[in-house]
Amino acid sequence: MNNVLVLQCSPHVGGVSDSVANLFTKGMAEAGIEARTVALRDYAYSPCTGCGGCSRPPHKCILANRPLPGQNDACAQMDQAEEIFQMINEAQLVMISSPIYFYFLPAHFKALIDRTQRFWMLQGGEDRVPLPLSRAKPVLVAMTAGRRRGNLLFSGSLLSLKYFLAPLGAAVRETRLLRGLESIKDLHERPAVMAALHAWGHDWGHRLATKNASYELTQPLPDDADKP
Ligand SMILES: Cc1cc2nc3c(=O)[nH]c(=O)nc-3n(C[C@H](O)[C@H](O)[C@H](O)COP(=O)(O)O)c2cc1C
Repeated sequence: MNNVLVLQCSPHVGGVSDSVANLFTKGMAEAGIEARTVALRDYAYSPCTGCGGCSRPPHKCILANRPLPGQNDACAQMDQAEEIFQMINEAQLVMISSPIYFYFLPAHFKALIDRTQRFWMLQGGEDRVPLPLSRAKPVLVAMTAGRRRGNLLFSGSLLSLKYFLAPLGAAVRETRLLRGLESIKDLHERPAVMAALHAWGHDWGHRLATKNASYELTQPLPDDADKP
């Protein structure tokens, strides 16, 4: 069975990056693959506090599956970061759709990224042996930004995504870096972009439906050293 996870990473319900994700999933559905869409904003979790607890076996996070800070009564909201990691773990393909906020990823998404520290520690920290790219779970990334210019508009986010995904056994395979999309109106004024996003989903849906999942790296990742 195909298990495709689409992560909507903006706090803005029905915003530009949600629409991008929806175009992708629509294309995929038309190729016969139903993706599961999950909005990070619907999941509650706290940012990493850097306590260092996960550096020691069994490398668990003290925040995981516990009441959120300040909520100790019977109906307290529980921390759900591990639920998202489990969904990523179970998916065969992940699509991430996120806006750029101040040259980076939105705060709630960044909080999730920091929570992967326990996986780095579980895998030996700086001594971890990276998975070869060919064996990593493929992740497709679409990012939307309001600005039309700026050479480094997506650079920091791409680098961060690389190190977020690595300890989860996943890697970015294709990107769609979309500029000049301040609002939904900007997207609607670019039907060719919308059609291309729909076609992107259809193409991956077709690959999965026909078991022709050739996960070729079509775009180079940022040139850099190992995690600093
Ligand atoms: C808090 C905030 C910060 C933003 N920072 C940037 C930025 O640094 N560069 C940029 O090009 N656009 C920036 N934008 C514009 C968004 O990237 C753009 O509107 C995006 O398509 C919004 O997607 P969304 O509706 O899914 O949140 C920012 C928007 C907000 C709300």
